[in-house]
Amino acid sequence: MMAKEYLTKNSFQTKLLGENMAKELLKSNSQQRALVLGLTGDLGGGKTTFLQGFAKGLGINQRVLSPTFIIMRRIGRFYHIDGYRIKNSKELLLLGFKKIINDPKNIVAVEWADRVSEVMPKSAIWLGFEFVNDKTRRIVVK
Ligand SMILES: Nc1ncnc2c1ncn2[C@@H]1O[C@H](COP(=O)(O)OP(=O)(O)OP(=O)(O)O)[C@@H](O)[C@H]1O
Ligand SMILES: [Mg+2]
Repeated sequence: MMAKEYLTKNSFQTKLLGENMAKELLKSNSQQRALVLGLTGDLGGGKTTFLQGFAKGLGINQRVLSPTFIIMRRIGRFYHIDGYRIKNSKELLLLGFKKIINDPKNIVAVEWADRVSEVMPKSAIWLGFEFVNDKTRRIVVK
């Protein structure tokens, strides 16, 4: 699936990468469980920015916000989870995470997923976001 590493020079490019990845994943979508993305890396690395494009690629028109004061937001079948606010994996399980990731209709994106890695499915696609400088980000698909 797609190349392994990208350098983006502005947030538009990061959004576009997200949009293209969503379209790509929808095409090859035949999995038996939810499609789960784990986003890791620097503060301001572009995780939320990427997910704005990703949601657009899924056909979602509603704007994706940084879920700053909440742990989980759902827009249709798209779940946006912010692991930064989660103390431990148990907290995520209490929100019904297992059921969410077992439903093949769902698409789940977890920011700061390394904080809840024990409950992330083996099939998760991991994306690392690195702050290179003011405008440049390195995005690695693991
Ligand atoms: N190439 C780029 N890609 C993405 N964002 C960029 C880029 N260049 C500059 N930016 C800016 O960097 C910021 C990225 O913020 P964003 O909220 O997406 O990061 P984040 O990884 O979700 O951070 P947090 O860990 O706080 O949730 C935005 O203000 C965006 O405009
Ligand atoms: Mg964010």
